Amino acid sequence: MKICITGGAGFIGSHVADAYLALGAEVVVIDDLSTGLRRNVPRGARFVEADIRDRERVAAIFRAERFTHVNHHAAQISVPASVQDPRFDADVNVLGLLVVLEACAKSEVEKFIFISSGGTVYGVPDRLPCVEDDPLAPASPYGIAKTAGEFYTRFYGSANGLRWTALRYSNVYGPRQNPHGEAGVVAIFCSRIIAGAPVQVFGACAPGDGGCERDYVYVGDVAAANVAALAKGDGEAFNIGTSTLTRTRALLEALQAAAGRTVPVEERGPRPGDVRANSLDPSKAARGLGWRPRTTLEAGLELTFRHFAAARG
Ligand SMILES: NC(=O)c1ccc[n+]([C@@H]2O[C@H](COP(=O)([O-])OP(=O)(O)OC[C@H]3O[C@@H](n4cnc5c(N)ncnc54)[C@H](O)[C@@H]3O)[C@@H](O)[C@H]2O)c1
Repeated sequence: MKICITGGAGFIGSHVADAYLALGAEVVVIDDLSTGLRRNVPRGARFVEADIRDRERVAAIFRAERFTHVNHHAAQISVPASVQDPRFDADVNVLGLLVVLEACAKSEVEKFIFISSGGTVYGVPDRLPCVEDDPLAPASPYGIAKTAGEFYTRFYGSANGLRWTALRYSNVYGPRQNPHGEAGVVAIFCSRIIAGAPVQVFGACAPGDGGCERDYVYVGDVAAANVAALAKGDGEAFNIGTSTLTRTRALLEALQAAAGRTVPVEERGPRPGDVRANSLDPSKAARGLGWRPRTTLEAGLELTFRHFAAARG
């Protein structure tokens, strides 16, 4: 197995690279280091610095490397940035995806794994947790691009006999996390607690209500879903989440418990585009991928906090 991971120098992609290397696969990371870091790429993986929007370069890499599997994590990851600049978001998240899909179609790639976002493709859900058959109603340019990405993946798959799976992540947290992504609050809280600085809890509708609610899934569990998707789940999209809602305030308290210290808290109202609550039902992933989340929030936050504290120390 020779696997290309786009965005493999980023937070989640680098954990997926670790998991694929542990299987004994040959791993090549393509990343432009726009938000990723060279040091995130595991030692056993080969690194190619390239922009996925560079059609000729990507085609040449695919011709030379002859990948059997492609795992597509590269993306513009910020919802607020997508609202500020929808064209840039679409440039990377739609046109960049098409460059990669085109390169797959023209080479011998057997399977393509597309990384979608369960936190945004369902928009403002009528009921929680979301299931895969719920309407897709994205409310941000980022969510629109991820939704379109799933449909483009399906199209290229059926037009070219390319097997594919889409993974709709909830809010992923863990070591090496980037503060700008969908679960960036965990990285931000870790840094603030370590610095002893005050934190802001957004999304409060009434004083003391603890802010918005999210479904936090540990990055090691997410990497395991990417391993399962190599062989299973063809032609389907799966929620990768826990179905558990956690208030931002409760998340902070759990991190403070892991740190053994508290910091001052300011509660703020919802920000534009903030969804009040979101969680994903992972039952379909249990049936189709044999995947379920295994790491408790307490254990995952403890591992994450320790990583941030060691990085500072
Ligand atoms: N973090 C979450 O909670 C979450 C939730 C749902 C979906 N996702 C998706 O997971 C994927 C990984 O996100 P992450 O949180 O690890 O973010 P990240 O920023 O750490 O990773 C994205 C990687 O893509 C690279 N990249 C960006 N534009 C590129 C380009 N034009 N060419 C080549 N490489 C490029 C970046 O340098 C970075 O290494 C993304 O597709 C994101 O949309 C993340």
